[in-house]
Parts: sequence; C-alpha cells; structure tokens
Amino acid sequence: MQTSENILELKGVKTYFSTTKGVVKAVDDISFSIGRGEIVGLVGESGSGKSMTSLSIMGLVPQPAGKTVAGEILFHGEDLLKKNDEQMRQIRGDKISMILQDPMVSLNQILSVKYQIGEVFRYHDKSILGSLKEMCIGVLKKVKVPSPELRVNDYPFQFSGGMCQRTIIGMGIANGPDLLIADEPTTALDVTIQAQVLQLMKQVQEETNAAILMITHDLGTVAQLCTRVLVMYAGRIIEKAPVNTFYKNPSHPYAIGLIKSVPVLGRKSDRLYSIEGQPPNLLNPPTGCRFAARCEQAMPICTQEYPPEVSLEADHQVSCWLFAEKGEQ
Ligand SMILES: Nc1ncnc2c1ncn2[C@@H]1O[C@H](COP(=O)(O)OP(=O)(O)OP(=O)(O)O)[C@@H](O)[C@H]1O
Ligand SMILES: [Mg+2]
Repeated sequence: MQTSENILELKGVKTYFSTTKGVVKAVDDISFSIGRGEIVGLVGESGSGKSMTSLSIMGLVPQPAGKTVAGEILFHGEDLLKKNDEQMRQIRGDKISMILQDPMVSLNQILSVKYQIGEVFRYHDKSILGSLKEMCIGVLKKVKVPSPELRVNDYPFQFSGGMCQRTIIGMGIANGPDLLIADEPTTALDVTIQAQVLQLMKQVQEETNAAILMITHDLGTVAQLCTRVLVMYAGRIIEKAPVNTFYKNPSHPYAIGLIKSVPVLGRKSDRLYSIEGQPPNLLNPPTGCRFAARCEQAMPICTQEYPPEVSLEADHQVSCWLFAEKGEQ
C-alpha cells in the first residue's frame, strides 16, 4: 500500500539524450511515488528506461549527452533536480543508496573489503563508534557474510559473487538510507544465490524500514519481494498497481503480455508466449500509445493520441484507451 508519507515523488520527469541522430527520449514524462518502507518494483523490457529513471533520481545521468530536462524529483518534499553537485554527493550513499547489477564491477578488486566499506562511513563523516574495523565487521555481519572478522581483510576477488553482492547491500544500508535503489541486483547471480540475496533485501527492509525501488526484468522477483509494481514501456509508465492486483488483474495489454510470457514450471505448452514485434525507436516515438503497433486490441485512437492515465481503483492506474472515455466511443 502507498502510505500517506511519500518519501519520493516523481512528477512529469523527462530525461533525454542529445545524439548526432537527434534527441533520444529515454524517460518521457513519468510520475510515481514511493511511501516509507514500501518495496516498489519497476519492470519493463530492455531499453524501456528503467536504469535512466534510477540514474535521474540519483543525479547520475551520463553527461554531457544526457539530461533531466523537465519535471520534479521530490525527496522528502525537496526537489533533487534543484540540488547542486556537492549537495547530491552528500545525499548519495547516505539518504539514498544504489545497488547495481554486477557486484564485480561495483567493488574495486584491488582495495580490501574493509577499506571499501570504511569509505562509506568516512565519506559521509559518520561518527565512528568503536573502531572502523568493528563497524565494517558489523556491516558484514548484518548481511550474513560468514566469518566476518576474518573476511573483512579480504579483497573482493576472494569473495564469491553472492558474498560480493551481500557486501554491496551492506554498504548500501550502512548509513541507514531512507531509499535504496536496486538496479537488477541479482541478474549476475545463480538462482539459489538470487533467492538468498532477495531474502536478505526483504530482511534488510524490515529491519531498517528503508523504501526500496527494485528494478528488474523478473516478474518472479516482483511477486516475491514487492508491494507495488510500475510497468514501464518505451520511456513511459503504462500501469501502476499493488502486486496482488497486478497478478490477478493486469489491465494494459502489454502488462498482460508480460505476465503471459513468464514460463510456468510444470505447465506444458508447445510454444512459449511472446509479444510480437519490437518497441519503438525512442529517437522518434509515435504520437499515440507507444505499444499500439504491437497491440492486438489497438483502435484508431491508439495511434493518434497518447492515452490518459485512468484510475481503475485507488492504487491501480493504467494508460490505455481501452479504459479511457474516448476509447469507449
Ligand atoms: N548515452 C546514451 N545515449 C543515447 N541514448 C542512450 C544512452 N544511454 C541510454 N540510452 C537510451 O535510453 C533508453 C533507456 O535506457 P535504459 O538503460 O534506461 O534501459 P533499461 O530499461 O534500463 O534497459 P535494460 O533492461 O537493458 O537495463 C534506451 O533506449 C537507450 O538506448
Ligand atoms: Mg537497465
């Protein structure tokens, strides 16, 4: 459930890239909010703008080509887009943390685990309770890295992939953030370790009450972990719903297709369902609904005008002409 206290609210955010071929509208007018302690899943196919949404929040859109050109990103009511570089540096890794896909890339292989965890405290001038080494051991303990007293002196290459990702989660929560953004945090791990890392994230969330924005391709992860889901397609959010509603009653034809494409163990079928066609080029996206060309239920209006966002229930919104007034005519 969305709580009354929104810690993050995006309003009409647009993040564009200037390229030699024109402007790529990677994130194009998206709005959503996250309440304290919520775990919100952001799903959508490759290139739909999920990572650019998270980088926009963090103020880390690749420069100089990329820029958040419109909208507001309110964190505790303050617009992050109005903060300067130094103010954003202070927020990152402290009040908002990010966990990336590949732990081997996120950790520096030639610096010890102790040094790298210590850096999180040092950078934000946290008062050191006891020794820095003890604080680092405390972080590893929290994320259940075995024998933390010994392993804290290791280098990342001496850790397994799962241990590295646990360490990164530990670094992400070390300063008690209000918001944790996880961009595909388990894709580089095998399935058993994936399940453990997801379990850990859930536990961390319960202990710290941090909100989590979970970016993933995997609808199974969303079902296991999230309270609410946002579905992104070609730079826009096309459906927002509580997780239970989403699985019982997905409404946008793209969201229905996504759920149908998940293979189910034990259910035999001749062919796995897939959504035909490709998403549009974000250099020149169509005027109407961006899914129209692939939609089996497309009507003339779908290619002419972008559908408004319609509320099906208090917490369930969909942008599709099948549910909007003009589409019914
Ligand atoms: N530096 C760049 N210059 C131009 N376009 C870019 C640049 N970086 C990203 N894009 C475009 O922005 C769009 C969104 O990319 P983004 O990385 O957010 O997708 P994603 O949903 O995270 O995909 P994936 O699931 O593969 O991680 C893509 O169409 C991509 O081509
Ligand atoms: Mg991505």
